[in-house]
Amino acid sequence: MNATRKDDHVRLAVAQHEGPHADRPSTFDDVRFVHHALAGTDRDRVDLTTTVAGRTWPVPLYINAMTGGTAATGRINRDLAIAARETGLPIATGSLSPYLKDPGTAETFTTVRRHHPDGFVMANLNANATPEQARRVVGLLEADALQIHLNSVQETVMPEGDRSFGHWPAAITAIAEAVGVPVIVKEVGFGLSGRTVAHLARLGVAAADVAGRGGTDFARIENGRRPEADYAYLEGWGLSTAEALLDARDSGLPLLASGGVRHPLDAVRALALGARAVGSSGPFLTTVTAGGPDALIARITTWIDQLTALMTLLGAPTPADLASCELLLTGALHEFCAQRGIR
Ligand code: FNR
Repeated sequence: MNATRKDDHVRLAVAQHEGPHADRPSTFDDVRFVHHALAGTDRDRVDLTTTVAGRTWPVPLYINAMTGGTAATGRINRDLAIAARETGLPIATGSLSPYLKDPGTAETFTTVRRHHPDGFVMANLNANATPEQARRVVGLLEADALQIHLNSVQETVMPEGDRSFGHWPAAITAIAEAVGVPVIVKEVGFGLSGRTVAHLARLGVAAADVAGRGGTDFARIENGRRPEADYAYLEGWGLSTAEALLDARDSGLPLLASGGVRHPLDAVRALALGARAVGSSGPFLTTVTAGGPDALIARITTWIDQLTALMTLLGAPTPADLASCELLLTGALHEFCAQRGIR
């Protein structure tokens, strides 16, 4: 059952991401840079390095959590890891819960470490995990950090999903105290609010990945796995990535941004809204399943090149400098800020 589910997720996620990304409407379009024609710097002054969970990442981009647990998803993990290695990107595996249920699936996850031996690798589990399970998966991957995903919306849509979430805060604290590597808590595409991030800051985690709405929609994926689609009205639930970044700014944790990042300009916008780095899942998955590691290496190389170009024209030599750029927030995002009292 679980194995089929992992293959279903890939198939349905790829279907969501086929076609051009650039034209999809997004609240990222409500983030405009005030253009200053003399602000530009020199390309050779741009330094893409960023600091996350106490480590320096060579670029402010990463391949976010997706998969593992079946033969097919193991091959996807291998190809993602090759692309991460060739471009220097950090990478997260998908949830290791299939491994905890069946240790025979280990290789479908450890392939990531094998193909990216010196890279920043993140293991991933849900917030039901015990400290002992967290230590096991971190050890298996020699992981540099552990992502814990919060997915109450997805679980609710799944008939077989969890219905008890009240123990999550205590579980996160127990894991963070025991696991020995930084813990990064993330959503799976419904966004983390400022209140949630402030709560996480009190639980001992190192960073929060807001993983907002706008890209892969797990309500749609789970509805797509059965004919009834009982919770069709939950599709589109949550905070967009731009909304979540604004809501969670100054909530006490370093932020990572993912969810619906369509192109390098969205990545630059997310960095300008305060993210330390920007992750992508569905778009990179679609590229790697269609064209293998070479296609993903080409795409990421283009993203890095254009990120550098955009920072040059904006006069921001480092990712952190982007936070000083003057922004105009328009449309739905402006309305969101007004209602949330964000200035
Ligand atoms: C995911 N995502 C995810 N997240 C997580 O923390 N653990 C997981 O096991 C998975 N599994 C998974 C499978 C597939 C096929 C996809 C596409 C995504 C969620 C992912 O990390 C990310 O938060 C969202 O997909 C939003 O980013 P994109 O896809 O809009 O860039």
